[in-house]
Amino acid sequence: MPKTSIHFPAGFLWGTATASHQVEGGNTNNNWYQWEMTEGKIKNGDRSGLTCNWWGGKWKDDLDRAAEAHQNSHRMSIEWSRVQPSPDRWDEDALEYYRQIIRGMIDRKLVPMVTLHHFSDPLWLMEMGAWETDAVVPYFQRYVEKVVGALKDTVKLWVTINEPNVYVWGGYMGGGFPPGKNDMNLGLQVLANMVRGHAVAYKTIHAVQPDARVGFALNYRDLQPARPGFPPDVWMANLQAKIYNETFVGALKTGKLDAVFKKISIPEAMGTQDYLGINYYTGDLVKFDLTAAGEMFGRRSTPPGAVMSETGFIASVPDGMFRALHWARRYNVPLMVTENGVEDSEDKFRPRYLMEHLEQVWRAANYNYRVEGYYLWSLVDNFEWERGWTQRFGLWGLDLETQARIRRPSVDLYAAICLENGISKDMVERWAPESLERLYP
Ligand code: BGC
Repeated sequence: MPKTSIHFPAGFLWGTATASHQVEGGNTNNNWYQWEMTEGKIKNGDRSGLTCNWWGGKWKDDLDRAAEAHQNSHRMSIEWSRVQPSPDRWDEDALEYYRQIIRGMIDRKLVPMVTLHHFSDPLWLMEMGAWETDAVVPYFQRYVEKVVGALKDTVKLWVTINEPNVYVWGGYMGGGFPPGKNDMNLGLQVLANMVRGHAVAYKTIHAVQPDARVGFALNYRDLQPARPGFPPDVWMANLQAKIYNETFVGALKTGKLDAVFKKISIPEAMGTQDYLGINYYTGDLVKFDLTAAGEMFGRRSTPPGAVMSETGFIASVPDGMFRALHWARRYNVPLMVTENGVEDSEDKFRPRYLMEHLEQVWRAANYNYRVEGYYLWSLVDNFEWERGWTQRFGLWGLDLETQARIRRPSVDLYAAICLENGISKDMVERWAPESLERLYP
């Protein structure tokens, strides 16, 4: 008899996720470094600096921590600007270092999941307009070919691009990411080029490695009508969800990028995903409002009653996790929760957030939705993009001055979950008694 009553499928992947620019340190050849050096772009003028110093070797201790805590997988990313510091040069030492990190994972019995693009672009690519022109596609293809060629004997699980929708929203719709533009048409062009980049990456990886599993990571936002009985709200919420959640992944199914107000045909993208990665954090209510032109006439607000995270960034909507997985079934591929987590420097709320969201993943698994893994964001506090060091998502805290890691209680909770492949009532009683009513009514 399993000790847990909330029990996950056999072989479930349990891990944490990180990204190159957020943990490596010393990345000075990419768009984010330039952004950090520009006044007013990052909260408090923070810089990534050494961050978790993985490039200086700290990945070893951090991966030891992950393995000791019974995780069996880790999701990391490769920094394009390191592997290809200029258009005509490959840095073989950098590639060798990535090989070492990945071998380090395998030695620790952590299945590597590798992301090829996680927000940061090489400076030389930025100078060429980055993803704004389709000239990026052959560059991305060569980069992917190079990386996959170097890592194919160790990595099978690939994420081509992390959150294309956030990249576009952040960089082209006023969301605080570089290049800091506000141009919906250009944003759509960027998204289309990301679809093309994904498609070519998918084919390139499979040509090198026929048994690879290739997907991308979608940022899914749970958008619900503020007044469920009021058709304009329902219509608006559905429209916003369609644009935000479905545009990119829809193109991988149909070969058409359908952004409602404009459609672009990209036939080569059809059928280019072996699984769908879902990054789920939060949701909003959407209310039809003629004065909200900036929000496409659907004003978004926090669901009443949702517990808010430490800095107000995340409203906790655990049911949204189930809705995300339920919605994702239409793509007919296995699913992975490639990110989920909350910023919480004192670890007061993380245990509850974690267990309540995992319960929803379990519900989905019970309906035989093909959910194969879960990656908590993140292993250790790291550089939170335009929010700098104001948010702490790590299981482990980071003292930036000394590089010391600070063990948060959730380390032990997540270790117990990974070890047992589930959640027990004892765990809820011990780590988040406030969730007892919800999880064990
Ligand atoms: C991104 C991560 C980020 C996390 C928390 C996700 O959208 O993929 O890079 O750190 O959100 O903000």
